[in-house]
Amino acid sequence: MTTVVSLLYIVSFALFIYGLMGLTGPRTAVRGNWIAAVGMGLAVIATLLLPGMGNWWLIALGIVLGTVVGVPAARKVKMTAMPQMVALFNGVGGGAVALIAWVEFRTTDGYAHEPLYVAIASLFAAIVGSISFWGSNVAFGKLQELVPSKPITIGRLQQPLNAVVVVAAVACAVAIAAGVSSEWLIIGVLVASALFGLMVVLPIGGADMPVVISLLNAMTGLSAAAMGLALDNTALIVAGMIVGASGSILTNLMAKAMNRSIPAIIAGGFGGGPAAAGGGTGTGEARPVRSTSAADTAIQMAYASRVVVVPGYGMAVAQAQHAVREMADLLESKGIEVAYAIHPVAGRMPGHMNVLLAEADVPYDQLKEMDESNSQFPQTDVALVIGANDVTNPAAQSDPSSPIYGMPILHVNASRSVIVLKRSMSSGFAGIENELFHDPKTSMLFGDAKASVGDIVEELKNL
Ligand code: TAP
Repeated sequence: MTTVVSLLYIVSFALFIYGLMGLTGPRTAVRGNWIAAVGMGLAVIATLLLPGMGNWWLIALGIVLGTVVGVPAARKVKMTAMPQMVALFNGVGGGAVALIAWVEFRTTDGYAHEPLYVAIASLFAAIVGSISFWGSNVAFGKLQELVPSKPITIGRLQQPLNAVVVVAAVACAVAIAAGVSSEWLIIGVLVASALFGLMVVLPIGGADMPVVISLLNAMTGLSAAAMGLALDNTALIVAGMIVGASGSILTNLMAKAMNRSIPAIIAGGFGGGPAAAGGGTGTGEARPVRSTSAADTAIQMAYASRVVVVPGYGMAVAQAQHAVREMADLLESKGIEVAYAIHPVAGRMPGHMNVLLAEADVPYDQLKEMDESNSQFPQTDVALVIGANDVTNPAAQSDPSSPIYGMPILHVNASRSVIVLKRSMSSGFAGIENELFHDPKTSMLFGDAKASVGDIVEELKNL
């Protein structure tokens, strides 16, 4: 039987890797996801075939509960709420690893009859899994607005207190590894790590949360791999390492695209609304902006030879992607070249804009990455900014005191004219004012993006 299990594991690992390759492009992502899911299904079946598997009723109950909660939640979740969903699902993985480490402690008399590496791997898994579970829950709460998204901190005591709880968790773990088998010690490991997870994520502002979620995701992967080592389960080691490695790479890419260092993100204090530097929720001194109408926008675009759509989070909120596609088709039928400028952190998750535009069947070759877009803005007649804000903010280049200073941006103001579609003068996620809106080249078309684009489409049809 173990040969069959090993063979099934090898097939499932190949499917994980093949599936992951599919996730590198929007065209192949859905298929890649299915392939990896089949791989995971095979790995679960193979594990259930292992000798000594018991408690079938409990296993069935777990599968039924997971399916009843997970499937409807995943089907109903809105695209804009995907980061918090990922946080929740990821957190559950970390929590499961921490609980397994506890169960193993109980069944092995505090790892007394196990080699030292098993105790070390299990304790590492308990610490990292517990941090990841509680940290992910805070991340979920912040993004779901159950917890205030602004940084919550206890001031100067924060860092020393963080250090105290980490030292407490590690001290309990060292005592266990040294042979003390009191159950209070493993409870101490789990509770101190839980406190650390809470205390590290609470001071981080909402704007950094997707990066934190990706980091916690990587940590869950590492804890699962460590638990796999302790349980001598190859599938858990491989799956955990894949999650750990891909999560680390993604975290790095996101931090780089926002020009933030990971330690700076963990140190917290950025984003989360009006409290952030620069204010900018429209409550300050009113400055003039130029408003425009759907009719004028349509005329301006109809006389252009090149229009670039710059999508952002607001397009996702408004679900305007299908209307945008219709507008682009109309423009192209009039001989106007249309392209889309995609900023790597536009929206709230990596690839957010690509996924939305792919859903509306926007030809993939019209999606231009940031560098290519920036080189083409000077030859662009109209940059149509749809629900994007921070990713176009010139302060990222010109104002060293801005919290987004250094973040690469889309240089939309290099175009001949800019039209911004948004509902009000409210700030974006970083909570700062955007000078672009006051640029003499910029006109604002106020309203919900889907409604505004729909109006532009009607006007274009009448031209
Ligand atoms: P934001 O800067 O967040 O701006 C979105 C704008 O959309 C808002 O100013 C809002 O203005 C507008 N909006 C909201 N609902 C709308 C609707 N129904 N119709 C029209 N407009 C609407 O978005 P962005 O430019 O995409 O930048 C993304 C931000 O998220 C960056 O700060 C980035 O660092 C951060 N972030 C992203 C990621 C990833 S991986 N994507 C990860 C971490 C952080 P109104 O309220 O006035 O309409």
